[in-house]
Amino acid sequence: MKVPFNDLCKHHSFIRQEIDIAISNVIDESSFIRGRHVTEFEERFASLIGTQHCISCANGTDALYITVKALGLKSDQEVIVPAHSWISTSEIVTQAGGTVVFCDTKSNGYTIDVSKIREKITDKTVGIIPVHLFGQPADMDEVVDIAREFGLWVVEDCAQAHLATYKGKRVGTMGDAATFSFYPGKNLGALGDAGAIVCSDKLLAEHMAKFARHGGLVKGTHDIEGINSRMDSLQAAILNVKLDYIEKWTWQRQEAASRYLSRLSSVESIALPSVDKGKTHVWHLFVIQHEDREGLALFLKEHGVQTVINYPVALPFVKAYERFSHKPEDFPNAYYNQSRILSLPLFPEIENEQIDYVCALIEEYVSINRKP
Ligand SMILES: Cc1ncc(COP(=O)(O)O)c(C=O)c1O
Repeated sequence: MKVPFNDLCKHHSFIRQEIDIAISNVIDESSFIRGRHVTEFEERFASLIGTQHCISCANGTDALYITVKALGLKSDQEVIVPAHSWISTSEIVTQAGGTVVFCDTKSNGYTIDVSKIREKITDKTVGIIPVHLFGQPADMDEVVDIAREFGLWVVEDCAQAHLATYKGKRVGTMGDAATFSFYPGKNLGALGDAGAIVCSDKLLAEHMAKFARHGGLVKGTHDIEGINSRMDSLQAAILNVKLDYIEKWTWQRQEAASRYLSRLSSVESIALPSVDKGKTHVWHLFVIQHEDREGLALFLKEHGVQTVINYPVALPFVKAYERFSHKPEDFPNAYYNQSRILSLPLFPEIENEQIDYVCALIEEYVSINRKP
């Protein structure tokens, strides 16, 4: 049996006709930049998340960049980001002129360790970017409390967590602003790059929209200097089709994760992902840990199962941050996790038989390699 890590062909086969019609409509209308599809997407996405404003843009990295620029990040100001994330979360801080300050992640999870944020705060700190990594919300009450205490802004990086909730609130509604990615493999994915920012502050929203569109909302006006970061109409039309299915797909991901969790619960030496009380996980990724991660991944590959490591090197230790000379003991949890994590196949259309096959292989590998 073959189990791909993700199956976008299968995913799109169920809605192929609707997508073809959406694409045809855009071509017939010949309105490729902004237009009704983009406006419709922005309105529907803001309402789905439960915020007032949505500013669409070209991708999730730009969404972060536009947000920190609009929040006024200046050179030499510091922003705290988790040690475990995709590099977008930190690189945009540097690109916007600020300084990245990494904070370790939790020992029993992958989101920012809120007990370690205070020690990272200096008189130069201006903001925190918690990441709802793998689909589980960060500890937002604590993040927001610390931010209030020190007068910092909070930008939620929701790239991996569309529709996840924290104490009944959707991610994207708890910080000053929040960013989303619609990269094709994300829980809500375009057929190319796309991203968005959501927030409830009208002035901030307007500033971000201007910045993303050459500094002006009306063609020919440039109130400020900006950049060109727009969601194109084709992607918006496709995402409008997909918005009708995101809740179903989220539920299917949750069902698949439950099956993995119950099938693997008794497999010794495998550490399973935990879900904190008061949070709903949307399982962008199902990440297990094993001390011989490479051996297990190879065994699964030899039996037709694709796995991925998200991510093989924690951010403080990637080459791009050599200048900081970070040591493993500075980020013990992220460092420990980087050599043990393994993401198993999980996508809305994964079959129970595929999950059972992966679990049986893991059981087999663990029993063959059991220590005497
Ligand atoms: C946590 C996180 N933040 C930001 C991004 C950036 O999104 P994009 O690839 O759309 O630029 C990603 C995408 O992988 C991500 O996983």
